[in-house]
Amino acid sequence: MDDHFDTDTLAIRAGTERSQFQEHSEALFLTSSFVYGSAAEAAAKFGGSEDGYVYSRFSNPTVRMFERRLATLEGGEDCIATSSGMAATLALALGTLKSGDHVICGASVFGATVTLFSTLLARFGIETSFVRGADPAAWRAAVQPNTRLLYCETPSNPLMEIVDLAEFVKLGRELGALTAVDNCFCTPVLQRPLDFGVDVVTHTGTKFIDGQGRAMGGAVVGRRALIQDALLPVLRTAGPCLSPFNAWVLLKGLETLPLRIRAQSAAALELARWLQAQPAVAQVNFPGLDSHPQAALARAQQQGPGAVLSFVVKADGDAAAQRRRAWQAIDRVRLFSITGNLGDTRSTITHPASTTHGRLTPEARERAGITEGLLRISVGLESVTDLKADLAQALSAP
Ligand SMILES: Cc1ncc(COP(=O)(O)O)c(C=O)c1O
Repeated sequence: MDDHFDTDTLAIRAGTERSQFQEHSEALFLTSSFVYGSAAEAAAKFGGSEDGYVYSRFSNPTVRMFERRLATLEGGEDCIATSSGMAATLALALGTLKSGDHVICGASVFGATVTLFSTLLARFGIETSFVRGADPAAWRAAVQPNTRLLYCETPSNPLMEIVDLAEFVKLGRELGALTAVDNCFCTPVLQRPLDFGVDVVTHTGTKFIDGQGRAMGGAVVGRRALIQDALLPVLRTAGPCLSPFNAWVLLKGLETLPLRIRAQSAAALELARWLQAQPAVAQVNFPGLDSHPQAALARAQQQGPGAVLSFVVKADGDAAAQRRRAWQAIDRVRLFSITGNLGDTRSTITHPASTTHGRLTPEARERAGITEGLLRISVGLESVTDLKADLAQALSAP
């Protein structure tokens, strides 16, 4: 489909491929394999000399529609869909790195991403340096002769630090290293890293793309040669593929993504401003606030602040006292869901230090700036008045 249409149109229409029945809504092809009219046709399709679907581990029409729609939204040439966001990052690493390579990764990224690079990939001889993502000098200081991949989230999870994408791309080009951005928090509706010259975007479909907490999924978007020659073979041989059913759910999710994320982003701004004025709150991290140290950069790179924020509760005393106060606030909420997921139509609240980032070493948590008093909120589509009232009673004096 022409990609000159607006995001709102592409989110609904791009990538659709109708079957012989000319169905209006995208068909769900729940089939593991495809049949051929002859041995020669099977051989040609398996060998790639003839186009056509082969086996759903690496080719399925419903999955392909999701891949094409997401690639179009991100402004990328091609995409592979994966079983989860972590599978997307793993596929990127398996497809582009080898033993002896070095990665630089923002320290304040999703906990499992830190563990993937620092522990799992380290076992295969891939070394990772973690840096304060918001500081371009820190990225440069970590460079080694064998640096092959620069990886970040912007805004980062859960501190909402912004990586300067122009600087990030400049460094990657100087080094001849691949640059990759996990675009989970903004989605292509609010930020398109490829437009800044970033090589690859990774996604978890599980968050804003589904948006209703139903399905796991992920994706990698980038140049056709990279996707087809380096990443598709990972799907084909290692198999971290997206199920057609989940691809169908994520396609439906994409249709309402622009509406949802803009509304959630506006609600998050209202909630962040209100939180900032609460006596029980020491600090609010949200790129939409003028108090955010990179507010101007966020405004330049993003079409909205996003719907995730974090804040620190006021607590006298040591880390244990901070944790007690943070947990107390969580235990008192009645409307917010206490869960690790985000990007949902339902607002969620999380204590990163003991959940999403609980498996990090204390040093890695400190490096990432994740303290015991920090709470993360993903703002959903409920009434902001109700959300404020819930937080007000949860944060009221113990
Ligand atoms: C920023 C970010 N990236 C990646 C992931 C991993 O996604 P998934 O849970 O789909 O594997 C998460 C999960 O919370 C996340 O928050």
